[in-house]
Amino acid sequence: LSNGLAETPQMGWNSWNFFACNINETVIKETADALVSTGLAELGYVYLNIDDCWSSKKRNSEGQLVPDPKAFPSGIKALADYVHTKGLKLGIYSDAGVFTCEVRPGSLYHENDDAELFASWGVDYLKYDNCFNLGIEPKERYPPMRNALNATGRTIFYSLCEWGVDNPALWADKVGNSWRTTDDINDSWASMTTIADLNDKWAAYAGPGGWNDPDMLEVGNGGMTFQEYRAHFSIWALMKAPLLVGCDVRNMTTETFELLTNKEVIAINQDPLGVQGRKVYVSGTDDCLQVWAGPLSEHRLVVALWNRCSKAATVTAAWEKLGLESSTSVSIRDLWQHKDVSGDAVSSFSARVDAHDCKMYTFTPQTVSRTVV
Ligand code: DGJ
Repeated sequence: LSNGLAETPQMGWNSWNFFACNINETVIKETADALVSTGLAELGYVYLNIDDCWSSKKRNSEGQLVPDPKAFPSGIKALADYVHTKGLKLGIYSDAGVFTCEVRPGSLYHENDDAELFASWGVDYLKYDNCFNLGIEPKERYPPMRNALNATGRTIFYSLCEWGVDNPALWADKVGNSWRTTDDINDSWASMTTIADLNDKWAAYAGPGGWNDPDMLEVGNGGMTFQEYRAHFSIWALMKAPLLVGCDVRNMTTETFELLTNKEVIAINQDPLGVQGRKVYVSGTDDCLQVWAGPLSEHRLVVALWNRCSKAATVTAAWEKLGLESSTSVSIRDLWQHKDVSGDAVSSFSARVDAHDCKMYTFTPQTVSRTVV
């Protein structure tokens, strides 16, 4: 969507994966404080997004949405003001149906009023869900909210959450700044890997202004190992996915912090070229040894060696699979070790990778003889 936003994938935090409906203004304010004090905000995680359950079960007598008076007694405007003083941006949530998934009022047929209200509160981002949609196609239900947001005169990031229904990559770049390519993620290796593969199919359709959204991060929520979370974060960064943290940032472990704050990996996600990397080569039993790669600015490449098998193994990236001449000499930097690992590799590069772990590199060809990945 050309509204001046999403030149690179959005970064921030969302309440759903950890808190679900257990949200209130204290949690949101403390999260705002934590985003700043941990340094996450400075690294780019600036959207603080409230998901489902912020609203009362009924509209008021004027037909307006009302924040739940128990959870958000000061209202959303006060929260937006607070968040803005911290240099952050506030996101809110509604649904392109008659109810949200947690049965709060939806915005279908209330698009203009609700967009006006959100803008008057100083909201910067809308996530727009797909429950209770009366069986009407997403293609018809999502554009009215784009128009309504546009008409407010406030610049509001528009995140479509249509769960991949009707292949949004094929139409949503004119409607929103990102669109979900899949159903909901959960905090497991099986869910994360399935979603990565589904999102990969739509790589060609992502770019500045509109990104494929394989759903929010589960890093730090406890259902995967450190290696699995490292793979999750690496591949989401490489796929130019929104980096929306989904854990309780007030109480992060050192490991979680280390993963979410890796500047070199974040820079892959935020690279100005804006091309979604993809799975380029598989080998091993069940194709579980994988190379994912994509072009970066300045003629570089990002290359991830992902071992999805259940034992440690050597994974090899051959130049021919990356679109490089095999005689090209490449300097290689390890983005998790923060080290240059090879000055002049030719033809291929291999590394030992633990089970379910992912190593990630930038490749800088010393001669520009590269074709395309
Ligand atoms: C379904 C969405 O896909 C989730 O991300 C979350 O927003 C829930 N609905 C909230 O009800």
